[in-house]
Amino acid sequence: MLDVERIRRDFPILEQGYIYLDSAASSLTPEPVVNKIVEFYHEYRANVERGVHRWSQRASEEYERAHEEVARFIGAPGAENVAMVKNTTEAINLVANALDWSKEDRVVTSVIEHHSNFITWLRVRQRYGVGLKVVRSSEEGVFDLGEWEKAVDDSTKLVAVTHVSNVLGCIVPVKEIAEIAHEHGALVLVDGAQGVPHIPVDVTDMGVDYLAFSGHKMLGPTGSGGLYIADQVLEETEPLCIGGGTIADVSIDDYALAVPPMRFEAGTPSIAQVIGLGEACRYLTRVGMKEVEAWDKRLANRLLDGLTELEGVEVYGPQDPEMRVGLATFNVDGMNPHDVALTLDEEYGIATRSGHHCALPLMKELFGLREGNVRASTYLYNTLEEVDRLVSAVEEISKG
Ligand code: ALA
Repeated sequence: MLDVERIRRDFPILEQGYIYLDSAASSLTPEPVVNKIVEFYHEYRANVERGVHRWSQRASEEYERAHEEVARFIGAPGAENVAMVKNTTEAINLVANALDWSKEDRVVTSVIEHHSNFITWLRVRQRYGVGLKVVRSSEEGVFDLGEWEKAVDDSTKLVAVTHVSNVLGCIVPVKEIAEIAHEHGALVLVDGAQGVPHIPVDVTDMGVDYLAFSGHKMLGPTGSGGLYIADQVLEETEPLCIGGGTIADVSIDDYALAVPPMRFEAGTPSIAQVIGLGEACRYLTRVGMKEVEAWDKRLANRLLDGLTELEGVEVYGPQDPEMRVGLATFNVDGMNPHDVALTLDEEYGIATRSGHHCALPLMKELFGLREGNVRASTYLYNTLEEVDRLVSAVEEISKG
């Protein structure tokens, strides 16, 4: 079992005694990752892939090594399969802009998606007239696979689905959904923003064409994220931007793109962020993603047990903690979720997120909630005591 006290020593920010339960929005960053970023600025601060001098050479080596670390972390065949971007949103937009759309195409997505994996497809529909089908889940976020079978047909060009809901915490059977999609020749894009940080992910086993994820939710710096691009779609995936660093050759009237992943990383990239993300992957690998997952389940269990027992508190998402990551959303009867979150911060020193969590279709269609709810989300540095403190704070707030 993961040694949480030892892990907490890598996060000096926690010495403030504040309880951070907002890792689904952005995680904290451990000292080895911070130090790796500082090392870049202190020791070899230079551009990558553009200089023969020693600092540029070292920066390029570290930058390339980070691609390899990230690729290994998600089980990708090689560094060429990972394009570094600034977050999941950019990764999804890259895919939306990479493909050649026509009116005959269809996109299939779901009602529980984050806006980044939803309005992107509404825009593709508006721009190119493609069909859009939205698969519904139960209130707990559970899907009937038969609904995906009905929604996907031979006109489906892309199935875009989340691995884990950022509101319900439920884990979606993306492997099975990918199989359905591939039977019809459709591509599969998985939003891994809430999955990759918490669950061991192997893209090859998952069988997806694209996996988008955010480094800043998995101990990396802000402005770091990635898009896995499977071998079979590497050539047909057009870069979002082109320019410096993305070419193999240019003449007065033509250009040839560089080999991946460099063709996807136009201009001077986020060098420190990418190197930091590589270090975050090393850190998580050292701890062990199976241990991270097991700790997550314990925290989820405690969170769910505690909150569901409270009178006047409604908890959303699957009842079974095995079906979710360490994330729970709830509302206190008669209270605006923002007021609850503000009270948790001001009176109890606990950080949560409140509102619609960038998932308005889910909020409106499944629960009829306009104001949203309160979300507590954990990560490997949270303790069971912190979860207990949240539960008793919510209990006190609910009793007025
Ligand atoms: N997508 C992040 C969240 O759900 C910001 O909080």
